[in-house]
Amino acid sequence: MFTRSARFYDAVYSFKDYAAEAAKADALIKERNPGARTLLDVACGTGKHLEHLRGRYDAEGLDLDPELLAIARERLPGIPLHQGDMTTFELGRRFDAVICLFSSIGYARTVEDLNRAVAAMAGHLEPGGVLVVEPWITPEAWQDGHVGAVFVDEPDLKIARVNLSERDGRLSRMDFHYLVATPAGIDHFEERHELALFTDDEYVAAFGGAGLEVEHDPEGLMGRGLYIGCAPAASTR
Ligand SMILES: C[S@@+](CC[C@H](N)C(=O)[O-])C[C@H]1O[C@@H](n2cnc3c(N)ncnc32)[C@H](O)[C@@H]1O
Repeated sequence: MFTRSARFYDAVYSFKDYAAEAAKADALIKERNPGARTLLDVACGTGKHLEHLRGRYDAEGLDLDPELLAIARERLPGIPLHQGDMTTFELGRRFDAVICLFSSIGYARTVEDLNRAVAAMAGHLEPGGVLVVEPWITPEAWQDGHVGAVFVDEPDLKIARVNLSERDGRLSRMDFHYLVATPAGIDHFEERHELALFTDDEYVAAFGGAGLEVEHDPEGLMGRGLYIGCAPAASTR
């Protein structure tokens, strides 16, 4: 997925305020579980949220992509980072909080995989633990034909990344075209990203099916909303 673009990931997403997002996620967790001490970031990418959460939690991360994990490992020495699939992972321990941010859940391409991913995350919660999932766009809000662009203008790195958004049934499809200039040369490559367009009902059902009480915050960290689930306080699951 991010094979060609991993080393440019942080530059492309430098517009994101990871410090503020991490602070907000931390506050949401502590409101529901004031004693939370341990946290797992599922689909942690290059570890930018973990960078700001590591001082507040005993934190760990998990991601499918080895290139992104390699960057996270450089950023976060000493933090356990696991390679794994969000729909099937089993770390053999539980956490007070599990987060899955920046719409990574959309990479679970079917409702069945959404349910499996939420169940895997819920299965890693301690009693009273909190699951925070930042969703991808809903089918109603998705705009076919939307054109997107990100530009990076650093002294030794110029990037133009453009894409046309399309829909294929329940999948959103973005073919990203990268034009990258560094002192070593100019490169052009393409990456296809497909994320499922889940409905609000499907997110809520996934949380309920995993035994969590769920709330929906329509604004969330960056306007995409948040689903916040709480595990039962007693370990009766
Ligand atoms: C948009 S990035 C978000 C990364 C990071 N959370 C952030 O906020 O920058 C989506 C992430 O989901 C990861 N991902 C996609 N499918 C996955 C899967 N099945 N299991 C675990 N991680 C996955 C990708 O490797 C990538 O790191």
